[in-house]
Amino acid sequence: MFGLDLDAASTLHAGVMSIDLQRTPGRSREPAIQVRGLHKSFQELRVLRGVDFDVAPGSVFALLGSNGAGKTTVVRILSTLLRPDAGAATVNGFDVAAQAGKVRASISLTGQFAAVDEILSGRENLVLVARLRRQREPGRVADDLLARIALTDAANRRVATYSGGMRRRLDLAMSLVGKPLVIFLDEPTTGLDPQARLEVWQAVRELAGQGTTVLLTTQYLDEAEQLADRIAVLHEGRVIANGTLAELRRLFPPATVEYVEKQPSLEDIFLAIVGGDTAVPTASTPVRAAKDPR
Ligand SMILES: Nc1ncnc2c1ncn2[C@@H]1O[C@H](COP(=O)(O)OP(=O)(O)O)[C@@H](O)[C@H]1O
Ligand SMILES: [Mg+2]
Repeated sequence: MFGLDLDAASTLHAGVMSIDLQRTPGRSREPAIQVRGLHKSFQELRVLRGVDFDVAPGSVFALLGSNGAGKTTVVRILSTLLRPDAGAATVNGFDVAAQAGKVRASISLTGQFAAVDEILSGRENLVLVARLRRQREPGRVADDLLARIALTDAANRRVATYSGGMRRRLDLAMSLVGKPLVIFLDEPTTGLDPQARLEVWQAVRELAGQGTTVLLTTQYLDEAEQLADRIAVLHEGRVIANGTLAELRRLFPPATVEYVEKQPSLEDIFLAIVGGDTAVPTASTPVRAAKDPR
């Protein structure tokens, strides 16, 4: 193959500057992200074949797909790092192709690998980014963020001594400097141990609670289930399912077999819609009629 690891593209902490980009009442009803008919191929490889979805402002949206499904490609297009072959997308109302600068000023992108400076302390990393983004009180900005991601105690230690989860949380905090309206988290917990994953989940919830729009990609069904308001399944270049967890569950109503009601997990639903090897019925094979338990 091409041997290109796009996820290694480190963190783009886009500058967030103009006041006119702040959320305004007129804006708040339109989707924070709108994606229509995105196509992207790499030579012969047709990665995206007509991707459509909307993300509501202030919501957490999970783009779920297996390795190589095209999640990072979507994120790179939305963050203006890559041009689609066809289709259109807007972020915060701005067109990713025609208004790339305004899109960049509205977003922040955290890649799969933490892009923090090991030699500096956590606080120094944050102060540095706050200075780069011309924040008025870099020290205060850093301290507020350290508190929000529960790193106050480790603030003055070198990042080299941090665990994987602490680094990822610091990376998240760095992406928050300047209050971007939309945050892209590309596989925020891939490679982390279970405890660190829980910590990062908590940090993402914290973010979402502040009204930031979050688009995260994940290969983990439980992650989407835990964090997302809506989940879109990217498979073979298209979004083949899109809804709340409850809506996705409704697509696949519980089957009653031998008097035991089975609620499908998101994993069952995922495997059913991508045609994996599973006992759960797919849309083309209707649910077995429920037996009357009486
Ligand atoms: N710049 C590129 N050149 C060639 N192939 C690429 C390039 N970027 C991605 N690909 C390929 O496109 C497919 C989708 O990649 P990616 O979007 O990174 O998937 P995901 O993030 O869902 O794992 C993969 O098969 C990958 O190898
Ligand atoms: Mg990826």
